[in-house]
Amino acid sequence: MDLINRPRRLRRTPVLRRMVRETRLSPDALILPFFVMEGKGIKQEIASMPGQYHYSCDTLPAGVEQAVNSGVGAVLLFGIPDEKDATGSGAWADEGVVQRAVRTLRTRFPELLIVTDVCLCEYTDHGHCGVLDSETVDNDKTLPLLASTALSHVRAGADMVAPSDMMDGRVAAIREMLDQNGHSHIPVMSYAAKYASAFYGPFREAAGSAPGKGDRKGYQMDPHNAKEAMLEVGLDSVEGADILMIKPALSYLDVIRQVADQALRPVAAYSVSGEYAMIKAAARAGYLDEHAAMCESALSVFRAGADILITYYASELAQAMERGDIG
Ligand code: PBG
Repeated sequence: MDLINRPRRLRRTPVLRRMVRETRLSPDALILPFFVMEGKGIKQEIASMPGQYHYSCDTLPAGVEQAVNSGVGAVLLFGIPDEKDATGSGAWADEGVVQRAVRTLRTRFPELLIVTDVCLCEYTDHGHCGVLDSETVDNDKTLPLLASTALSHVRAGADMVAPSDMMDGRVAAIREMLDQNGHSHIPVMSYAAKYASAFYGPFREAAGSAPGKGDRKGYQMDPHNAKEAMLEVGLDSVEGADILMIKPALSYLDVIRQVADQALRPVAAYSVSGEYAMIKAAARAGYLDEHAAMCESALSVFRAGADILITYYASELAQAMERGDIG
């Protein structure tokens, strides 16, 4: 037998196994989403997302504190207003639900990275991400409203804004608004390649943001396309996006890989509500091991090239990293 050329696999002791890991994870790369609603004393579990809650502004800090204690350093806030209207005016109200939540968290957690979702769909009575011109979304009329929303979040103390609406030109509109008002240091994390996905189902229930009529296929991407994602990412980069996000994560690992290889900006992946709900439901039914499935899914996203992972499992993942289950 030719011993020199005999193919060999590394014999793995635990120490060696950790030594040769190609993918390294850190809690620093995690962002945990929170849903904030009006009212007081609310901490209500979201039926389609067990383990995730609707908080009011006064109960939110306790929820965030738990995450911070697990090692999570960044949150992404979604607001659920009581009142909705045709233009989504609650989105940029000074006393809006997100603005109040940001102010509360800012004083309680000076070190926390507070990111806000910038979109109108939770605030419009029709549930679309922009204002309507009869039946369709009017892209250009929506831009100044998104820019005002971003500015009001930043004035409340947000560290970064994340536009999720997918209107053309919104990154540039937000960038210009922030720059003109003395916030040129605030980064924009754009949902650059956001697919029209079935995996947002539980979120839309949580946020009450399912479109009343029609769907979002006019402005969200077709899952058939990957090159188009590169186009979207390129456009957002040119407009001034600082971090490029791909969403959802698991069904779009190829897109994450392509963007990571080609873009010159950090890449974030959003492991969305349906991805979380799938693991939860299967684990509850006894079909799979929740912890192992959670770890493996998160790993795959980083292995595909993501620098940042937005996930409802952020606290549990941070703890898993701390224990060395993944790392
Ligand atoms: C839109 C928005 C959505 C999500 C984040 N921002 C829903 C949508 O486009 O319908 C989905 C997040 C998730 O499913 O976890 N504001």
